[in-house]
Amino acid sequence: MNIEKIKKDFPILERKIGLNDLVYLDNTATTQKPLQVVEALKDYYFQHNANIHRGIHTLSEEASEMYDNARKTVAQFINAIYPEEIIFTRGATESLNMAAFSWGIPNLKKGDKILLTGFEHHSNLIPWQIVAKNTGAELKFVKIGSAGIVDMTEFKNALTPDVKLVCVAHASNVLGTILDIKEISKMAHAVGALVCVDGAQAVPHMPVNVQSLGCDFYSFSGHKMLGPTGIGVLYVKKSVMGQMVPFQFGGGMIKEVSLTDASWADAPEKFEAGTPDAAGAIGLAAAIDYLTALGMDKVREHEIELGKYAIEKLTAIEGIKILGPLDPEKRTGLISFYSEKVHAHDIASVLNSFGVAVRSGHHCAMPLHKELGLPATVRASYYIYNDFSDIDKLAEGVKKALTMLS
Ligand code: ALA
Repeated sequence: MNIEKIKKDFPILERKIGLNDLVYLDNTATTQKPLQVVEALKDYYFQHNANIHRGIHTLSEEASEMYDNARKTVAQFINAIYPEEIIFTRGATESLNMAAFSWGIPNLKKGDKILLTGFEHHSNLIPWQIVAKNTGAELKFVKIGSAGIVDMTEFKNALTPDVKLVCVAHASNVLGTILDIKEISKMAHAVGALVCVDGAQAVPHMPVNVQSLGCDFYSFSGHKMLGPTGIGVLYVKKSVMGQMVPFQFGGGMIKEVSLTDASWADAPEKFEAGTPDAAGAIGLAAAIDYLTALGMDKVREHEIELGKYAIEKLTAIEGIKILGPLDPEKRTGLISFYSEKVHAHDIASVLNSFGVAVRSGHHCAMPLHKELGLPATVRASYYIYNDFSDIDKLAEGVKKALTMLS
C-alpha cells in the first residue's frame, strides 16, 4: 500500500497538535475520514437529500435507490447471501442491543446459558446481562489463557447442551486477540447454540466473510472503518431473522396499522423504525469502496507489519509490558501496554504533548482490566495511514514519559 498517497486523502493528518505533527494512533476508538467519504456525504446532502421510501418525487426515489445500493455494498463486503440480511443501526452497540432485545429476550428462558469470553467490550456484555435478568437465563464465561489466547478445548468444554447462544468479539479491543469464529460457530451449532459476533474490531482490519464464518449475527460500526459516526450494521442470517421481534416501533416498519393494532413490514425494514440514516449508509458504502479499492488482504498485511514493529519497539522499552498475543498474526491492529510505575493516563498525556494520540483507561472492558489487576492501560491502534515512523514516535514518547515520570 502506498501510505504517502493514502495520507493525502485524510486532511486531518496534516494538523498540528501544538507544535507537533499529529500522529493518530487511536483508530480502535474511531478512524479518520477520507475525502471520498466526506464528498459522498456532500453529494448526498447537496444533490439527493430526501426522506427515503416515503415519497414518489425524484429526490426521494434517488435517495431510496442510493440507500438500497448501500445495503447491497455492505452485503457484498461481508459476503452475506442476501442484502435483506443487513440491518442498518446506529453502530455496533445498537446492533448488539438489537440482537439481545429482538432475539435474546423472546427466545431465551430460565435454564438456558449464554456463553461469552472474559474480554468482551461492555457493548457485548451488558445487553446480555439485561437479557439474563429479564429471562432467567445465565451468563457463562470462557476463561482467557495467558497471553490473551482463548483455548479452543476450553471453549468446547464450556459448550454444554444448555448453551443457547455464544456471544464473542471477533477481535478483542484491548488484547487484540483474534478469535477463530469459524471453529466457534461449528462447535456452537453442534450443540444447537446460535453465534452472535461483535465484529467492531475485525471488519475494518481484515477480510470478513460471514458465510464462511458461519455465524448467525455479526455486528460492526461504520465510524471505525473510515465511515461516518452514527451508522452501523447487524447482519442476521436469513434463517434466524424469523425468530426476531422488532426492537423499535413507528414509521417505516409497518405493513398495516389500525387504532389498536399493527403488523410489520418484511425484514430488514421491520427492524429499521423511523427515518433511516441514509446519509450514514451512503457514507459507509463510500468507505467500503475505499477499503475495497485498497484490498482488505493488503490492509491486513500492512497491520501485521506495523504490529510486528510495534511489538519489537515496545517490548524493548524497560518497564513496559504489553498485553495480548506476541505473534502479530494472531492480533488485530492494536497494542495495549502498561508500566508498573507510571499511570496509563500520565503516559497518554505525555504522548499527547508530542502530538501522539492514543487511548488510556479500561477501554470499555472493565471486567478484563479487573481480572488482569490493572486499573488502566495505554492502547495504540494503527490503521491504513500509519507507518513505521508513527510507531517510532510512539516508542520515543513512551520512553520520554517513563524518564520524566518514574
Ligand atoms: N469501542 C471503542 C474503543 O475500544 C470506543 O475504544
